Amino acid sequence: MAAKFSQLIEYRDIEMSDLDTIYDLETKSYNFPWTRNILKDCIINRYDSFAAMYSNNIVGYVISKISSIESHILNLTVDEKYRNNGIGSELLDMVINKCQIVQSEILLLETRLTNDSAIFLYEKYGFKKIGLRKNYYKTSLGKEDAIVYRKILN
Ligand SMILES: CC(C)(COP(=O)(O)OP(=O)(O)OC[C@H]1O[C@@H](n2cnc3c(N)ncnc32)[C@H](O)[C@@H]1OP(=O)(O)O)[C@@H](O)C(=O)NCCC(=O)NCCS
Repeated sequence: MAAKFSQLIEYRDIEMSDLDTIYDLETKSYNFPWTRNILKDCIINRYDSFAAMYSNNIVGYVISKISSIESHILNLTVDEKYRNNGIGSELLDMVINKCQIVQSEILLLETRLTNDSAIFLYEKYGFKKIGLRKNYYKTSLGKEDAIVYRKILN
């Protein structure tokens, strides 16, 4: 029997040798991507970062800062070609599992007010809106608000 696509995805920690591939995926995925230097700093500083691998290629990644008490998801990106296959969910699970290991109590993140797929995913995971950051993100026409989401972890 053929394996389900999601069963062919492997997950591992991000390494410095992944920087160029991740930067490439970042620039393809956002109109206003993080710079290569920001990504590099996250890897150097050992942020909690995981890559989703499909046949030895990175098809998604998550970058988070996990600590006891409060943790943050800073970047969650899946290659457009591979979206809606559960990869974003699996990357979120990896962060949540690690938060639970260090007994982090709260997980926070921000997303654009217009980012329907991200909003759907976060709300499905039980994140609750706790605020808005006015004019937080750049857009081609000006600025857009961010929704701040929080998930209380057990
Ligand atoms: C947000 C993102 C990471 C989700 O990754 P993904 O691998 O597609 O996520 P999953 O497949 O695990 O789940 C996606 C879910 O959203 C749903 N969905 C997708 N687009 C949607 C939309 N426009 N409106 C409502 N639901 C949507 C899918 O049906 C799926 O739900 P299901 O699991 O109940 O079927 C991905 O869309 C992405 O990389 N977007 C661009 C970068 C980005 O905006 N990142 C978030 C920054 S905060």
